[in-house]
Amino acid sequence: MAYNCLKAPLQAAYAKSGDQVAKAYPTWVNYATAPYQSATHGDRYANNYANAVAKSYGKYEESGKMPVGAVLAKDSFMAHPNGKVSPGPLFIMQKMAAGFNKPSGDWRYSMIMPNGSTLGVTNGKGSANVAFCIECHASMEDQDHMFFLPEEVRH
Ligand code: HEC
Repeated sequence: MAYNCLKAPLQAAYAKSGDQVAKAYPTWVNYATAPYQSATHGDRYANNYANAVAKSYGKYEESGKMPVGAVLAKDSFMAHPNGKVSPGPLFIMQKMAAGFNKPSGDWRYSMIMPNGSTLGVTNGKGSANVAFCIECHASMEDQDHMFFLPEEVRH
């Protein structure tokens, strides 16, 4: 699968950002059995990693409210008709302390580009660039703003 070849360069590219999550996520559990096409993240192929604090993620709709320190990371790549693949952004949700940002459910969203630059971070630099993440994810308010994975790629 393309992801096996792309994984190492993709992870190295994100790590250039210096972001702690970008460096750490490759060691976490990937809850997707295979990369799947995500229409809501630019039609890219994506995976869903979660750190140890977020281990209830594997219960999907039964996960409940995530504790402070829970981090979810979604790496992504594009598959082109000519068979070539190219890296896509890393999408991150990090659960902050209560009061951090009410509309976001106290999640801090970040988007890290495959050139190692950071497009935006909620309540940080480029916050406006990631406001659209909050808006869409807020529709899942009863699931703590999480969408989970398509059924066919769950463990
Ligand atoms: C139009 C709706 C929409 C927008 C905009 C959106 N997402 Fe998502 N997000 C989803 C859906 C749907 C999923 C579930 C998996 C899938 O189908 O891609 C998801 C899954 C995720 C996950 C895995 C955790 C979960 O919810 O299960 C992360 C992390 C994530 N998105 C981050 C982001 C970030 C960061 C942004 C903004 C840069 C963003 N998303 C923008 C709809 C959206």
